[in-house]
Amino acid sequence: MISMQEKKQLFISHFGESTKEIQTFQAPGRVNLIGEHIDYNGGYVLPAALEFGTTLLIRERDDNRVAFKSANFPYEAQMSADELGTPKSGEWIDYPVGVMVELAKLGCPLTHGYDLYFIGEIPNGAGLSSSASIEVVTAFALLSAEGKERDTVEIAKLSQRAENQYVGVNSGIMDQFAVANGARNNAILLMCDTLEYKKVPFNTGSYKLVIGNTNKRRGLVDSKYNERRSECDEALRLLQEHVPELEFLAGLNPEKFGALEEHLLGEVLRRRAKHVVEENARVLKSVEALQRNDLQQFGIFMNESHDSLRDLYEVSCRELDVMVEEARKIGGTLGSRMTGAGFGGCTVSLVHEDDVARFVHNVGEAYEQRTGLAADFYVCGVGDGVHQIKGEA
Ligand code: GLA
Repeated sequence: MISMQEKKQLFISHFGESTKEIQTFQAPGRVNLIGEHIDYNGGYVLPAALEFGTTLLIRERDDNRVAFKSANFPYEAQMSADELGTPKSGEWIDYPVGVMVELAKLGCPLTHGYDLYFIGEIPNGAGLSSSASIEVVTAFALLSAEGKERDTVEIAKLSQRAENQYVGVNSGIMDQFAVANGARNNAILLMCDTLEYKKVPFNTGSYKLVIGNTNKRRGLVDSKYNERRSECDEALRLLQEHVPELEFLAGLNPEKFGALEEHLLGEVLRRRAKHVVEENARVLKSVEALQRNDLQQFGIFMNESHDSLRDLYEVSCRELDVMVEEARKIGGTLGSRMTGAGFGGCTVSLVHEDDVARFVHNVGEAYEQRTGLAADFYVCGVGDGVHQIKGEA
């Protein structure tokens, strides 16, 4: 990881010296601990911010142009602040540009040009929300530079709109919310219907979160994601014929669902809805387990969550299943599951600190043998949500 000083040097070697100040902002990636495919069904999720993310260095320009540079992608661009957003580039800058378009819609158009340098530490396409991290850091930095209020719930909402409407990915609110509102050593219990949330202390003692990247390209993810969303909409529509006041699928508890499931047409919709209802209940039970420091039980819920995503919601894939299977063979693993949208990306496991080295070695080796792919592992703590970095820190 490069130091803040080196990041500033990168900025200056690209954009040159100026009398204007360079300001630095950071937004994390996120890992979802439990509550998968629940956000767009209006239920509870329990994500946490990571200790690594996206750094954005920003400096006001003398003209009204906005210049984009990334340390991670070769594509760079420059455009006038008045012509932002037309046309879409199909490149990484669509994420920050989408945010600028949303800010303008909210009555905060850019009043000057800016030089923007993005430095990402989150592997792209790994399901750790590198795109939400770029969106949220852009919104936070521009509002700061423009001297506007920085409400992190509003930032999450406008970043999600940028992703849905400008970038064109129909994701829920969880990723942007976690990136904007995460807090060190805390998970975030978010009610996705109302956006009420609270911090849940994530004290794992001698256990570590280990993220395993399958390095499997998530080829199917967008189409299958949208397919699951429509299946849930259809299940909700059918259930509403019997419970008109039901607003979201996650609004049912498992008992009520049991009494109603016969009204769902076909085995597939039943399985999808059963996952949503049970996973939503599992989130609240997981929070209770964390609050009484029962990590064993939390690990059991993580395992149940994965099995449900594999068998009922059908968003896992062989690579994720193999990695989870191998992870569970390690004695010090309390639980292991896929995290994020699925069809590739990462797993998250809770592993005793004495077993982490063996975990990384054994799971990595067995995974490669069985899939032909080399895995990456990140042992990480829970970090802060978006923030400004002052001084030379
Ligand atoms: C992706 C989406 C989120 C959420 C998860 C699944 O990360 O961006 O909104 O739906 O998948 O839980």
